[in-house]
Amino acid sequence: MAACASCHTPDPTRPGRHVKTGREIEPMAVSATPTRFTDPAKVEKRFSRDCPNVLGRDCTAKEKGDFILFLTGQ
Ligand code: HEC
Repeated sequence: MAACASCHTPDPTRPGRHVKTGREIEPMAVSATPTRFTDPAKVEKRFSRDCPNVLGRDCTAKEKGDFILFLTGQ
C-alpha cells in the first residue's frame, strides 16, 4: 500500500475509496465527517490495521496524535 492517501485521498474533505474493495470511505476531515475520532476503540482498531499496511509497522503515539490533530483542523 503506497500511502494513507491511497484510500483516504490527498484531500481529506473529499470521500475516499478503498483501493482493493472499491468501497467508498467517508471523508477523514472532522469538518466533513463529524463522527471522526469520537470512538477510541474504532480509532485504535483502524490505526493498528492501516499503519502496518502502509508503513510495515505500528504508528507511534506522536504520529497518531499528529494525524488526528491535522484532520481535526481540516
Ligand atoms: C487499504 C485502504 C486504507 C489505507 C491505505 C488506509 N486506510 Fe485508514 N481506513 C480505511 C477504512 C476502510 C477505514 C474505515 C472506514 C471509515 O472509517 O470510514 C479507515 C479508517 C481509518 C481511521 C478511523 C477514523 C475514525 O473514524 O475514527 C483512521 C484513524 C485511519 N483510517 C488512519 C489511517 C492511516 C494513518 C493510514 C496510513 C498509515 C491509513 N488509514 C491508510 C482504509 C484505509
